[in-house]
Amino acid sequence: MGYKSSARCRLFGLFVIVAAFFLVGFIIGWFANPPEDEPERRLSDNDRMKLLNEMKAENIRQYLRNFTKLPHLAGTEQNLRLAKQIQKEWKDFGLDLVDLVHYDVLLSYPNETNPNYISIINEQGTEIFKTSLLEPPPAGYENVSNVVPPYSAFSAKGEPEGDLVYVNYGRTEDFFKLEREMNISCTGKIVIARYGKIFRGNKVKNAILAGAKGIILFSDPVDYCAPGVEVYPDGWNLPGGGAQRGNVLNLNGAGDPLTPGYPAKEYTYRYKADDGAGLPKIPVHPIGYDDAKHLLSNMGGQAPPEGWKGGLNISYNIGPGFIETFNTTKVKMHIYTNNKVTRIYNVIGKIRGATEPDRYVILGGHRDSWVFGGIDPTTGAAVVHEVVRSAGKYMKKGWRPRRTIIFASWDAEEFGLLGSTEWAEDNAKILQERAVAYINADSAIEGNYTLRVDCTPSLNTVVYNLTKKIDSPDEGYHGKSLYESWHQKDNWTTYRDAPRISKLGSGSDFEAYFQRLGIASGRARYTKNRKTEKYSNYPVYHSVYETFELVEKFYDPSFKQLLAVAQVRGGLIFELADSALLPFDFNEYAEALRTYADSIFSLANKHKPSLHTFEVSFDSLFSAVKNFTEAAQDFHVRKKHLDMSNPMALRMVNDQMMYLERAFIDPLGLPGRPFYRHIIFAPSSHNKYAGESFPGIYDAMFDIENAKDQSKAWEEVKRQISIAAFTVHAAGMTLTEVV
Ligand SMILES: *[C@@H]1O[C@H](CO)[C@@H](O)[C@H](O)[C@H]1NC(C)=O
Ligand SMILES: *[C@@H]1O[C@H](CO)[C@@H](O)[C@H](O)[C@H]1NC(C)=O
Ligand SMILES: *[C@@H]1O[C@H](CO)[C@@H](O)[C@H](O)[C@H]1NC(C)=O
Ligand SMILES: *[C@@H]1O[C@H](CO)[C@@H](O)[C@H](O)[C@H]1NC(C)=O
Ligand SMILES: *[C@@H]1O[C@H](CO)[C@@H](O)[C@H](O)[C@H]1NC(C)=O
Ligand SMILES: *[C@@H]1O[C@H](CO)[C@@H](O)[C@H](O)[C@H]1NC(C)=O
Ligand SMILES: *[C@@H]1O[C@H](CO)[C@@H](O)[C@H](O)[C@H]1NC(C)=O
Ligand SMILES: *[C@@H]1O[C@H](CO)[C@@H](O)[C@H](O)[C@H]1NC(C)=O
Ligand SMILES: *[C@@H]1O[C@H](CO)[C@@H](O)[C@H](O)[C@H]1NC(C)=O
Ligand SMILES: *[C@@H]1O[C@H](CO)[C@@H](O)[C@H](O)[C@H]1NC(C)=O
Ligand SMILES: [Zn+2]
Repeated sequence: MGYKSSARCRLFGLFVIVAAFFLVGFIIGWFANPPEDEPERRLSDNDRMKLLNEMKAENIRQYLRNFTKLPHLAGTEQNLRLAKQIQKEWKDFGLDLVDLVHYDVLLSYPNETNPNYISIINEQGTEIFKTSLLEPPPAGYENVSNVVPPYSAFSAKGEPEGDLVYVNYGRTEDFFKLEREMNISCTGKIVIARYGKIFRGNKVKNAILAGAKGIILFSDPVDYCAPGVEVYPDGWNLPGGGAQRGNVLNLNGAGDPLTPGYPAKEYTYRYKADDGAGLPKIPVHPIGYDDAKHLLSNMGGQAPPEGWKGGLNISYNIGPGFIETFNTTKVKMHIYTNNKVTRIYNVIGKIRGATEPDRYVILGGHRDSWVFGGIDPTTGAAVVHEVVRSAGKYMKKGWRPRRTIIFASWDAEEFGLLGSTEWAEDNAKILQERAVAYINADSAIEGNYTLRVDCTPSLNTVVYNLTKKIDSPDEGYHGKSLYESWHQKDNWTTYRDAPRISKLGSGSDFEAYFQRLGIASGRARYTKNRKTEKYSNYPVYHSVYETFELVEKFYDPSFKQLLAVAQVRGGLIFELADSALLPFDFNEYAEALRTYADSIFSLANKHKPSLHTFEVSFDSLFSAVKNFTEAAQDFHVRKKHLDMSNPMALRMVNDQMMYLERAFIDPLGLPGRPFYRHIIFAPSSHNKYAGESFPGIYDAMFDIENAKDQSKAWEEVKRQISIAAFTVHAAGMTLTEVV
């Protein structure tokens, strides 16, 4: 290196130092004197529509293409790289701040040199059949490395051996049927359950309670193949060699199994693996229907009850064990999966609110996938990316929303909602003071028929209003709104003349925000025709066949349905962040509470003599619903006459609205489920995916006819009714006028 270039080096060095001083000065300046006087530049209704129209189907297509080239399993180098790419691109789009936030959580991976499988062994212990070690890769992806084989994350290790019992879907009612009606015991057996109907972790829990020493999960063609559709790549059905990965935890909202309730930081106390929350104590393994046919085809024992036969050409006999000719052959599981504390990364991006920077509106969805994540989660991640780009573009034009918007790309959702739950735990104190709403952004499509929305009832109206302003992407609905096609295709009918909106359960990242913290939440995606299409999830869910091509060829070739989902998710965020008055509607909550009270009461009425004997009354609950209803009505009438030019008055009313959902939280949580604290909604105890209303009362009455001590059981029902009545009434009182 000559003299000149070294001088240039020095000059450059000087420049870097000067630039660094400027940067540091700027940063100090920012914190010392944040741009609080930066004017709020809200969007008119017309501009808000323009923001929605800024989103482009073609961009979503490109993001999906880019994000699904490689596997992005949580805890891997590749998923960290994608996090850094998203961080960089969100900064380039124009967000004020984008951070990577890490936690060290328990994950679970198969042993790379010692694969998991299931065998049939003869009397001598010789393996006469082995299940496949991996799924045949789809065309074009043969050479991709780091494709994790199908496995059940967090399975116990072990090599249990024994007779099979077929347990249908492994639901509570399936085990009741076996044990109570058919007198079949699963104790010491390996049970085999078909996927579908409920969350797989609930199947595993039921198997453990029944005394099984292992559980095999399989995808039956009747549940994972739509009639008349080819298997992938010629269609969108699950091929016989495909299998569904997934975690088999029963966390009940705990987050990282080793640090339940607290963020998994460097200093955090960790339980020993044996004491971890929700970890199953038996081996679990998933297989496809080709392998399942081998395991099930010689089953002996009783014939299956009505409704237990699947789509394979076999008897579906229950067992235990094989028919006489094979009665010395056994089934053996070989499971070597390891749990491992691993670093995960959330990407957190912020737009600082101009007027109410201490009020947060959150759009969060996960980034980690089992393999390519073609649908789950990357249709969601691509949609969020386009929402962020559009927001950034409007900021460059001078927009700054009234409230702060937080965008999140969560990690390790597939391992038990870990990234989102750890961040919620880390920020719980702030979020319970400042969070206005959380909108979830997992898979944006699971069918191409119509919109599906699950949300807190107070968001119903804003969802309806917004979808009336979005173009329907459906064929035959040109010039019509999304609301119109949705209404026509999924009318609520029995309840009211409007499109159906469902209760929030769990199974995705909104859980900690809604069920634990009591933040108003919602989710939206495109779905199948739930009246006619009876297959579970979408057929290739969590298999290697979830690719970009699957979406482009079979789900949404024009990407218009994904665009509509982006407009719903993004539109909700912009409305919640930018409108002077928060767009909540508590008359909807009152209406929902009335329906839930009616339905829990009619359930109780099936035990009319017991209600009489044990003096169980729902009067207090109905009284509370009435009080809430009146408080909500009065609130909305008063709100109409609010002096919008009085910032204190506006803030007071907005705070009453923000905190209403919080008022449904009971700090003690539901019985045995301390992290499910919402008294109106919880994930069903029998199926984490489904939402249950008045879960405390529901669970206290579940199977009550078989309770040993009837008096004690009904006392608990009474206690739960009083908790619900108190909570509903007290929540209503937060809406009354401050005098
Ligand atoms: C995705 O896009 C980014 C930014 O354009 C680019 O750097 C990266 O190489 C792309 N990745 C893939 C897998 O195509
Ligand atoms: C994986 O399996 C190999 C072969 O059985 C064994 O030597 C190794 O210890 C296992 N690795 C772990 C992390 O358990
Ligand atoms: C995969 O790798 C093999 C061997 O390197 C090569 O022959 C083949 O063309 C590759 N296939 C694809 C789809 O890239
Ligand atoms: C149920 O099965 C057990 C064990 O197989 C047997 O001892 C018992 O008699 C059976 N009970 C009925 C009601 O069939
Ligand atoms: C079903 O299995 C039976 C007995 O194995 C066989 O005879 C029959 O042809 C099969 N049916 C179909 C539709 O494959
Ligand atoms: C298997 O069946 C044979 C009759 O074919 C019977 O003698 C034997 O006891 C059975 N073995 C078991 C373990 O049930
Ligand atoms: C929805 O159902 C109600 C009641 O059955 C009916 O009056 C209404 O016309 C339906 N709406 C649509 C759009 O189908
Ligand atoms: C997409 O819509 C068409 C037309 O209704 C339907 O035939 C097809 O099955 C749908 N595709 C998927 C993946 O559901
Ligand atoms: C919904 O739209 C109606 C009619 O424009 C309006 O009066 C109402 O305030 C809106 N409600 C919400 C919550 O956005
Ligand atoms: C409902 O309000 C009335 C009148 O204030 C009150 O007497 C009653 O106790 C309230 N109900 C409940 C469950 O708190
Ligand atoms: Zn997902």
